[in-house]
Amino acid sequence: MYKAGGQLRCLALLMAAWTAITVAHFAIGAGTHGLHVVHIVLAGLYLLVVIAAAIWFGLVGALLSSIAVTAAYIPYVLVVWRNQPMENANQYAMLVVYWVVAFTAGTLAWRREIEMQRHLASERAADRSAVIEAIAGLSNALRARDEYTREHSEQVALLAVAIGNELGLPENQVELARLAALIHDVGKIGVRDDVLLKPGQLSDEERQAVQQHPMIAADILRPIHGANEIADIVLAHHECPDGSGYPRGLRGEAIPIEARIVRVADVYASLVERRPYKNAMDSDSALSLLSQGAGSKFDLEGVQALKRVMAKSGMHKAT
Ligand SMILES: [Fe+2]
Repeated sequence: MYKAGGQLRCLALLMAAWTAITVAHFAIGAGTHGLHVVHIVLAGLYLLVVIAAAIWFGLVGALLSSIAVTAAYIPYVLVVWRNQPMENANQYAMLVVYWVVAFTAGTLAWRREIEMQRHLASERAADRSAVIEAIAGLSNALRARDEYTREHSEQVALLAVAIGNELGLPENQVELARLAALIHDVGKIGVRDDVLLKPGQLSDEERQAVQQHPMIAADILRPIHGANEIADIVLAHHECPDGSGYPRGLRGEAIPIEARIVRVADVYASLVERRPYKNAMDSDSALSLLSQGAGSKFDLEGVQALKRVMAKSGMHKAT
């Protein structure tokens, strides 16, 4: 079916053609054999209106244009060709032709539209499975580099899905958050081992090197066909609602909702996990730390949703 800003122009064209044919039809009358030929040509031109309507507006357009043609044609037959029953029989047969053509052309347009939708859906599914395969490959690359990061990412993905569902996000956004969470730290592949695995405090220079990882991740993801949205989420997973995050200092809703969710999940998971340089924090303490920064450092609704998720799982009392 025709889909573009030109729909109104097509409608105007159809109405202009219908009006011109109808006016010409009534104007020529039925005086001579020559005029009869003109009538036959004009009656045929109505078919173009019906076919064009089917191409541009599908089955509905074809049927509506048939109604319009019928509404113009019957008065023409009754007025201009009155008292000519033999001729009228031919003319009424033409009405049947209009409707048969409308149904045929409309049905073909409708089937073509369905085929196109099916094709687009299978293309999207192919893109999505290519993205998932690419992400699985990146996840394996992470494992080869650092088993801890991969386990952490899987935990973040589980939490991101739980938060997204708790917030009532559409399924596709929850899935985007999950995929982004699985490889949110893939950019750490580009951070030197002695910095990435350093047990103690990082120097300013080392911290800056680590803070490059969202941009490195986005650069890794962008060339993957269909992974642009995931690249945007990963790029923003260290942004804060108050603009104090990195790499771009985005604020509030300028940060994709999926990235805000991944950040809440990421920070919570990091706090409750044991790392070489720190012990694991208990869930209540981690949630209370997140609550202190809710609305400034972390997405407020995301933190509230995580608390509800934890309360339902029995790991935290809702406050
Ligand atoms: Fe990160």
